[in-house]
Amino acid sequence: MGIRFGGDYNPEQWPEEVWAEDLELMRTARVSMVTAGIFSWARVQPRPDVWDFGWFDRVMDGLAGAGIDVCLATMTASPPPWLSHAHPEMLPEDADGRRRWPGARQHYCPSSPVYRSHAVRLVEQLAARYAGHPALALWHIGNEYGCHTRQCFCEVSAADFRRWLRDRYSTVDALNAAWSTAFWSQAYGDFDEVLPPRTAPTFPNPAQQLDYLRFGDEALRACYLAEKDVLDRLSPAIPVTTNLMPQHKPVDAFAWAPHLDTMALDFYQDPHVPDDHIRAGYAFDLMRSAGGGRPWLLLEQAPGAVNWRPRNGPKPPGTMRLWSWQAVAQGADAVLFFQWRQSLGGAEKFHSAMLPHAGTDTRIFREVTALGRELAAVPEIAGTRSRADVALLADWNSWWALELDSKPSTALDLAQLTLEHYRPLFEAGVACDIVPPGRDLTGYRMVVVPHLYLLTAEDARRLTGYVRDGGRLVVSFFSGIVDAHDRVHPGGAPAPLRELLGLRVEEFWPLAAGVSVAVGGGYTGRADLWSEAIDLEGAEAVAQFTEGDLAGRPAVTRHGYGRGTAWYVGTRLEPALLRALWDDVREAAGVLPVLPGLPDGVQAAVREGAGGRFLFLLNHGGTTADVALPEPMRDALAGDAAAVERVTLAARGVAVLTAVGQGG
Ligand code: GLA
Repeated sequence: MGIRFGGDYNPEQWPEEVWAEDLELMRTARVSMVTAGIFSWARVQPRPDVWDFGWFDRVMDGLAGAGIDVCLATMTASPPPWLSHAHPEMLPEDADGRRRWPGARQHYCPSSPVYRSHAVRLVEQLAARYAGHPALALWHIGNEYGCHTRQCFCEVSAADFRRWLRDRYSTVDALNAAWSTAFWSQAYGDFDEVLPPRTAPTFPNPAQQLDYLRFGDEALRACYLAEKDVLDRLSPAIPVTTNLMPQHKPVDAFAWAPHLDTMALDFYQDPHVPDDHIRAGYAFDLMRSAGGGRPWLLLEQAPGAVNWRPRNGPKPPGTMRLWSWQAVAQGADAVLFFQWRQSLGGAEKFHSAMLPHAGTDTRIFREVTALGRELAAVPEIAGTRSRADVALLADWNSWWALELDSKPSTALDLAQLTLEHYRPLFEAGVACDIVPPGRDLTGYRMVVVPHLYLLTAEDARRLTGYVRDGGRLVVSFFSGIVDAHDRVHPGGAPAPLRELLGLRVEEFWPLAAGVSVAVGGGYTGRADLWSEAIDLEGAEAVAQFTEGDLAGRPAVTRHGYGRGTAWYVGTRLEPALLRALWDDVREAAGVLPVLPGLPDGVQAAVREGAGGRFLFLLNHGGTTADVALPEPMRDALAGDAAAVERVTLAARGVAVLTAVGQGG
């Protein structure tokens, strides 16, 4: 089957005469899969009881005839005007009670029974019609859940939230306890009194907000699952997915993963951000890890510029190829784009496409075609997997709780801080999994825990057991502070981790904007954002604050516990210091890079399996890089069988190495 290559295909935007040319050019570009029908609802169901699938049959038949597989969308991402016209109560509302009107897309309340029942009806039609179609390879439910409508606060959502609370708490007393409603006279006498956390005079109850984020995620998932039930019933042989987004707060990728037959991600690297490939690296590792290590699909990226940032840089020559191979190196079995043919009208006419307005005699089409050819030449990569010695913990519940208001500091941006924890691993060339706190950590030599504010007693025990049995753990500040209901763990912070870390945090001491403090001892440099008064209870200080209110107090600590070691970082270290600390922990843990001695800016990754063993080298740096290989290998993209011992990578260069005698 190989690595799938292609993109979103929106033929409804074009007269039928164009479709034949589409198929011909797709063949030229070696397109093997398209995602079709994402925004076709209004066209296939123009009125409540009128169905028009004839044109879409011809699209599907044409693709089958061209040997192109279809990732078939359930078409439910943008309800047609007649539906919201007849049922305005299906439109979403924000926390101020303002309605979000139709005219763009994703204008539905996720809890709306009207929306869900019409979506299910449409999916029944689609599944009945296309389940056995020769082009159908994969179902694509919805589109980027929670991308625009992240949460809805309308009356329909309020009623659904109350149902959700009744299921969760059974009694209103249990709800009151969980939400600490003794505070500010908030005790409820009945579930009927509960509302969504709409805009209030000041901070709405944090536990209520946290539950609303959980509920919002589940409401979106309920939409997905309602459609999936239909497909499981009417099209059981075909796998099902939906396209997730990177570091997307409304959608808990770990909670969704069990319901996706294959994980799928949309990722738009920003050519204006010099190291955006590190953000991509994190998202790719998360996709792979959330799917238990299975290959995943890059379902959307841009061939060039997007249209939705304030300034949209094109991808300079070679960049699209480099970033596509990065996804493959980190476990993708598909490289798809938004979209096949650039729109002439609508909101995305300035978004790049595989086939630009200017046609085939364009740099983008040439680069697309070359990439298609290249990917088609190494089909044996598909299905191979990778392994990692390091795990970084990510948890949506903790993220939601951490970023609620009324905190010691609201300057903690967890997505950003998490990337800062990931970066030193990426730059050191170390393979990394991104896992939830509930995952079995046995087998990882090193575990990194960025700001795990919400930590259940059970997960704290798991972390403690991991270190006791010989693991190396690094925990950063403001971890282990509250339980699942955002209630502080009593007994001094971070109570459930105190014994493991061998310390107590007596007071949080967030730093003002723009202020930094010096740290010294084992790590000398500057730190900002946060500090805290740490009392040692068995741990040793490996760095101290050397100026400011906390001068002389520990900033970074280490504690031998059982057969392992736990480090604690009580401030935000500047990047070079964090890298030095991470390197020391790695050394203590015996974690090696994928390939030692790599030049700066070069990424190495390995995938292995029935198809063979592949070493990917990607030069994200701006200059030519020379890489010595651990043994003579064959360059799978060069098309000759000669063994090489060194590889010279031009800026943005890519090499895929395999064993001599393998493939080719
Ligand atoms: C998202 C959507 C696509 C398209 C692209 C443009 O990923 O899923 O429909 O709007 O953005 O970048």
